[in-house]
Amino acid sequence: MPTQFNTQGVELPPPGKTALAHSSRLVQAIIGRIEQRGGLIGFDEYMQMALYEPGLGYYSAATPKFGAQGDFVTAPEISPMFGFCLGQQVNALVAQGAGAGILEFGAGSGKLCAQILNSSPGLEQYHILDLSAELKQRQKRYLRAHLSAELFHKIDWLSSLPTDFDGIVLANEVLDAMPVHILLKQGDWAELGVGCDGGKLSWQSFAPGKPSLDAIRSIEARLGELPDNYCSELNLNYSPWFTALAESCKRAVVLIIDYGYEQAHYYHPARSRGSLICHYQHRVHSDPLIYPGLQDITAFVDFDACADAAENAGFELVGMVPQGRFLLANGLLEEAQRQSLESDTAAQLAVSQQVQTLSLPQEMGEKFKVLAMHKNLSLEMPAMRRERAYG
Ligand SMILES: C[S@@+](CC[C@H](N)C(=O)[O-])C[C@H]1O[C@@H](n2cnc3c(N)ncnc32)[C@H](O)[C@@H]1O
Repeated sequence: MPTQFNTQGVELPPPGKTALAHSSRLVQAIIGRIEQRGGLIGFDEYMQMALYEPGLGYYSAATPKFGAQGDFVTAPEISPMFGFCLGQQVNALVAQGAGAGILEFGAGSGKLCAQILNSSPGLEQYHILDLSAELKQRQKRYLRAHLSAELFHKIDWLSSLPTDFDGIVLANEVLDAMPVHILLKQGDWAELGVGCDGGKLSWQSFAPGKPSLDAIRSIEARLGELPDNYCSELNLNYSPWFTALAESCKRAVVLIIDYGYEQAHYYHPARSRGSLICHYQHRVHSDPLIYPGLQDITAFVDFDACADAAENAGFELVGMVPQGRFLLANGLLEEAQRQSLESDTAAQLAVSQQVQTLSLPQEMGEKFKVLAMHKNLSLEMPAMRRERAYG
């Protein structure tokens, strides 16, 4: 069994009694599922339950998650300038004829929605589609309190994909939260799953299903054979997700923002321990079996697999650029300067810090990418052109 799934010496603050009791309820539900399946579930099924089991999973339960009180921060939590820049891109697309509606997947705390609605007065509708019933309630509370009634009434919460959507689709840090399979090469490929040993969750390996095996073999056929003891994740959700999205869109521009790599980097022989990480109270480690329901579990995005899935589903790719370039090309520095003119020294320092975190290569600027595509629309997106690079 690979050894990387541990807390890497990171000291995790022990959860309180209520949190532990919550986690134990989820563990019991997972053990129940393991027994139903004859002693083992794939890691993808474990991750699905750990994050999304109704009422118990990390995203389904009422823990803080985002921001200082939670487990991690995302770009809209770091600075409203993130949503401002996306809003500039939205305005440019709408001015060229894209539909004046947004469909945001996984809206988190609701901050990105507020930032975009405040920056894009021409938007007529803002749909939110989130798997988490708890987050939907949290988004409603936040947006009602922070937006004018006029802007708030543009928002609706969907429980399934719309039909004939005409507008702009956004997904910030959503694809990394999709369940993944874990594959391990030991002579032949095996898949890692979760079983139960003496009442505790434990790693188990099993012969991979055909879809996982076909996918990893086609990656090896494309990039070369991977070495023994190589372990990595595989996301088989991109294809059904993009297919369902394409079917629901009449005309659309889609912007996917996330951390990830192109496939040659994702499955580089030297990256032999995968990219699975867990966030627990701002500590980052790689033991997904610890404190289920109390910590986030994520895997980096394979952007080539996404692009292939999107093209097969009927989208036309526009391109992919690092987040830093995308934000700079959509007015990040100009907005920072405008905000600085209106603020005192402490606030100016905060704005400068936010610009650096969002855009510097060693911060979020390179690790996060923006992947853009469209369906039945052909619009200019200068921010997606690599030769227009800044910084
Ligand atoms: C890491 S959080 C990101 C939240 C937010 N976009 C942000 O940037 O702060 C992941 C979000 O994606 C949602 N999510 C994951 N898979 C989803 C899917 N297939 N459809 C809709 N929402 C999804 C989760 O419920 C959660 O709100």
